[in-house]
Parts: sequence; structure tokens; C-alpha cells
Amino acid sequence: MSIFSVHEIPWWKKTTVYHIYPRSYKDSSGNGIGDIPGIISKLDYLKDFGIETIWLSPIFSSPQADHGYDVSGYRSIAPEYGSIRDCELLIREIHTREMYIVFDLVLNHTSDQHPWFQESQSSRDNPKRDWYIWHDGQKPMGKKPPNNWKSMLGGSGWHYRDLTDQWYWAQFLPFQPDLNYRNPDVKKEMFDTIRFWLDKGIDGFRLDIINTIFEDEQFRNNPFTWKFFPSDADDSSFFQKKIHTINHPDNFIFVKELRSVLDEYDAPERFLVGEISASVEVLKKYCGDAINKTRTNGLHLTFQFQSLNVPLMAKPIHELICLYEQHLSEPYIPTWVFSNHDQMRRISKLGNDLNKAKLNATLQLTARGVPFIYYGEEVGMSNHRLPLKTAEDPIGQRFSRLPKFLVNLLTRKGSISLNRDDCRTPMQWDPSLNAGFCSEELEPWLPLSLGHHELNVSSEEDNPDSLLNCYKALLRLRKKMPALHSGSISFLNQSLSTQSLLSYQRIHDEQVAQIWLNFSKKPLEIGRIEVSSKLLFSTIVDADSLKDSKLHLEPYQGVVLGLSA
Ligand code: NOJ
Repeated sequence: MSIFSVHEIPWWKKTTVYHIYPRSYKDSSGNGIGDIPGIISKLDYLKDFGIETIWLSPIFSSPQADHGYDVSGYRSIAPEYGSIRDCELLIREIHTREMYIVFDLVLNHTSDQHPWFQESQSSRDNPKRDWYIWHDGQKPMGKKPPNNWKSMLGGSGWHYRDLTDQWYWAQFLPFQPDLNYRNPDVKKEMFDTIRFWLDKGIDGFRLDIINTIFEDEQFRNNPFTWKFFPSDADDSSFFQKKIHTINHPDNFIFVKELRSVLDEYDAPERFLVGEISASVEVLKKYCGDAINKTRTNGLHLTFQFQSLNVPLMAKPIHELICLYEQHLSEPYIPTWVFSNHDQMRRISKLGNDLNKAKLNATLQLTARGVPFIYYGEEVGMSNHRLPLKTAEDPIGQRFSRLPKFLVNLLTRKGSISLNRDDCRTPMQWDPSLNAGFCSEELEPWLPLSLGHHELNVSSEEDNPDSLLNCYKALLRLRKKMPALHSGSISFLNQSLSTQSLLSYQRIHDEQVAQIWLNFSKKPLEIGRIEVSSKLLFSTIVDADSLKDSKLHLEPYQGVVLGLSA
């Protein structure tokens, strides 16, 4: 039973989240790698920017084979990022600024260097043996994997160890063995870890591939399908319907248990956001059942990765919003995410066009849902095509073994990146040699993205027409206008939602915000605009968009109008 008021809209539904990849944000120690003190030194920037919640990709102890998504100690901090004291200071400093902090929690797997796995693999009767998923190979010799299960990345997810003549299961990369949540000790340890961080004041967790926690207890084969490529909305891939390895029914019970751990904590309410690639129907199931008009009993939020590749056109965006409203109406709420540390940056999918990026930001910050902004998105940082053969990213390293013609074929249209380094380049703070990420004599852990001399915080701060100032204006307005973070959403005129124009309104109590987005390269004029309308925001600064009850929109212009209900 939730202890929180049903009458108030919870803070995590109204917030905007800023996602930091700690390794790439700000180096303070002089090794070309971002760190916690570096992040602390930028909190005033983030506060002024207008963000309310900060999510950090993992900072726990790790051999960094997958840059923190391979944890070797859940209650300690990787030394290159700082110490536990730095972490406590970070939490305090964030709270002093009345912001929230969210950690990234990898529950599904650990690093193979984690002492638990080291013990587990050492003998069949080690007390930690059952902390992971071990199984005999197929008869008669046992030298074939136990069944046909493929990992998320393709290829068998089973890996053999001679020492004990058994196979362990890894949903992701071979050095990330899956924990066994059918063992109550594992569950207890991880739930206590959650409490450990909540006691330190963490406001929530982003849960890494939370749809892969449980697998079939009988180890049955996954059925065949013709689908090869994984997609954002469907878990079938590599010719397998992953019914026994992804979205197992026990996961839906597990997330409710996780939720009850968070609900042990009093105000401020803590929240969970799940990383899950699935249809909106499945995502809703992860959020649990509605328990009252503001809350459910599962995950508070899930990412809807459907937005990652939605074309910047009225019709598909209209359809997406309709889909969200059909399945995720109150007490559920969607999220709006366009870029992250695994994906090609959105602006590069938009041809690195700043006007399109402003329009996209207007959608992200005005449609109903919780926006997640990836670091650097606010200054227009682009994806940087980096060589596969020197990839830091373990997935990039895998692709580096592919024949060159295949790599060229896959990446030919420029809309696919095989190396996640490409979207993880250092944050662009100023026009100096290393963009203010680290000092000029150092080599940053990844090269800077192109365009950093112009696209950076200090250059954009003084330019009223910059992408950074567009985000700031939107964030300011969103904070000031409850209709934008808590209002209902409806389309102004279905027939207007053509390929080029999308308009919707957000209403909260007496307040009405109308959003008009021109997705075309032609100007548009809209008549019969309500006389009381006021122009509250425009992607084009000083635009004279509203005259004589007519709205004039330049190509790719977005505006927010305010009127009284
Ligand atoms: C999803 C994370 O977003 C990704 O970066 C990571 O490599 C995998 N999960 C494995 O933890």
C-alpha cells in the first residue's frame, strides 16, 4: 500500500531528467576521464540550465570492460570516479540545490571479476555456486550448450568453464554472467544493496535490462521465428522468440517486490525507471496495476524506446502520442527519450540540423511524459564516427571483427552506429582544445566530437538563438506552467495533424497550453487562433508569429501558446 498522497501529482511525474555518462562529463583529477568531483563542479550549471533530476550511468566498482555495466562491487565506487565520500558529497550537493539524484543499477548480471562469480566458478560445491545460473551441457558429452538460448547480442548466451565442466548463462556479454534470482540469498543481497543506497539519500534507480531477470526454470528451448534484427518494440531476434529468456512472467512479480522496497521509504518518494525494449503493452505490465489515480504498484516509469527512431514528422509522432495515451494514460505516464549512451544521438539522425533539434526539444518538453535529456543534447553534440578497431566499447570491439564490406554496408546510410563510443564523446563546455572537459595537455579518454568549437556551453550561453537557450526557455516554461508537466493532452484538430503540422493542447485546472509544431520545410499559416492566445515560447527568438488571430510558422518552427480555459 502506497503511503503517498493520492491528491498530489508525485514529483517524479513532473520532473525532467538529465542523463550523465560520468566518464565523459568533466575530468577533475587530470587523467582524461570524467569523475564525481567533476560532476559536482557542474551542478550550478545544471541547476541554472533548469534540470531537476540527474541520472548517472554506473559509478560502482568495475573492471570497466563495459564501462560500469559490469559491476564488481555494488557498495563501493570505481576509484577513477572518486570515493564513497565524493559520492556522499555529490548527493548532498544535489539535494542542497533542490535537485534529485538517480543511480543506475545493474541487477541482472555482475562482472565476471566480481568476487561472487570468482567464488561461484571455483567449484560445484562453493556456497556461491548457485548465485549464478550454471547448467550441464547437452548429452552425451556435455560439450554443447544446455539449450538454444541466444544472448541479447546474438550467439549462444551459454559459456563453458572446464574447471567444473558446466556452462553459465549470460544474457549480455560473456563477461557479464547473470545472477540467479531464484536463489533467495541473491535477492536479499540486492534488495539490501538498494536499501544501502536509499539510506544514503538516492532518489531513485534506473534499472538496467530489467526484463531479463528471470529465465525459464525448465530451460526449455526458445521457439523459432524468421525475425533476425532486434528492435525497440519487440524482443524476438536472431531467429528466436525469446519467450523463455526475456519478459518471463516472474519478472512482473519481481518488479512489484522491488517497488515495495522503495515504498519502505518516506518522503521524498523514490522512483524506479526500467530499461526495457518492448511493446507499450508489455511496458505497461512492468508498471503494475493502478492502485489509485496517481500511482501503480510496479515500476514508476519505463523507457519507451519507440521514440528513438520516430521520424520527425507529424503523422508518426501523432500516432506515437495516441499509442501512449491509449496504454499509458493516468496513473501511468510515458517517458520521452531520444538519445542515450547506447544509441546514435538524435541530432545526427536529424542531419545535425539545429532547427530540427529545437523542434524535437519542443516536442520532448511539451508532450505528456517525463523527458530524459542525454548530456550534450542541449548544445547539439553530434555522434562522432570513431574507428571500430580502437573501440573502447565492447560491442564496437565485437563489430571490429566483421569484414569491412559488411561494416560499410550496415553503416552506409549513416543512421546506424556500431560503436557506442560514437555517442559517448566528452562533454563540450567551451571552445578550447579539449572543450573544457580536461586540460589541454591531456588526451581525453575518447576524442571530441566534431563541431565542438561552436557547439559548446560557453559559446551558446551568450547566443539567444542557440539550442542551449532554446532548451533553457522550454525548461523554464515547463516549470512555470503546470499544464506542461501535469496537464492532460488532446489534439487540437485531428485533421490538422497532417504530415507537416501537429498541434495539441495540455490542460491543467484553468490553464491551457497549445503546442504548434511545423515539421515541414515550408512556412505555414493557421487561421482562427483564439484571440486570447499569447505567445509563450518559440523556437525562433523574437519571431512575430501571432498576428490578427493568425499563427505564422516558419519551417521547422515550434511554438507554445497560452490561453485561459
Ligand atoms: C544496457 C545498458 O544501457 C548498456 O550500456 C549495457 O552495456 C547493457 N545494458 C549491459 O549492462
